Amino acid sequence: MSLEQLLKNLEQLGLDNDDAQSERSKKYLNITRDTGEFLAVLIKATDAKTVLEVGTSNGYSTLWLTSSLPDGGHVFTIENNSRKIDEASENFRKAELDSKITQLDGDVVDLLSKLSPNIDFIFLDADRSQYLAIAKQLFGLLKEGGLLVCDNAVSHKEELEEFNAWIADQSNLSTSLVPVGKGELLVYKDRSTRSLS
Ligand SMILES: C[S@@+](CC[C@H](N)C(=O)[O-])C[C@H]1O[C@@H](n2cnc3c(N)ncnc32)[C@H](O)[C@@H]1O
Repeated sequence: MSLEQLLKNLEQLGLDNDDAQSERSKKYLNITRDTGEFLAVLIKATDAKTVLEVGTSNGYSTLWLTSSLPDGGHVFTIENNSRKIDEASENFRKAELDSKITQLDGDVVDLLSKLSPNIDFIFLDADRSQYLAIAKQLFGLLKEGGLLVCDNAVSHKEELEEFNAWIADQSNLSTSLVPVGKGELLVYKDRSTRSLS
């Protein structure tokens, strides 16, 4: 199946499923297509090679991230729901992108400490109530000159207030709120300035 056809199928599945399911853990809660396109452009424009995604669901957003990577690029994606982990795995195989993806199964709080630093690009789309608690670790993993993108920055602005305030307090982080999809917060980690002596 072509990637485009798989993305279209997943978009329809997401709409149908999330409409029918009342239980939140059974919803896919996928990003919008325009967010996928936006992420794809950002990955290419920043020449990202190592990507971390927090919140795989069934892998819709992961497919956008991975299909934009150059040869040798890799996505690490974190998810703690076993049914979604299995569905994502099947979708990665169908897209023939599985060799570029490592699925990290479990809770983000436990898994971040196992990752190596210098990640080029982070996409954050999981449990917003945890973002403040993991902020220091996440930005520690991001390389200088790297970009973190946080979904739902407009749709769930109130839930992100403390996380946003923490970011605003960091002198090395620059932000821009982009009105694409559910609102994408872009956070750039500045490069350290070198003293010229
Ligand atoms: C909004 S959905 C992700 C949607 C996905 N990015 C997409 O667009 O296709 C959020 C996902 O984060 C997962 N999640 C929530 N809290 C988590 C945690 N503490 N550790 C790992 N995964 C978590 C949920 O199970 C859910 O599948």
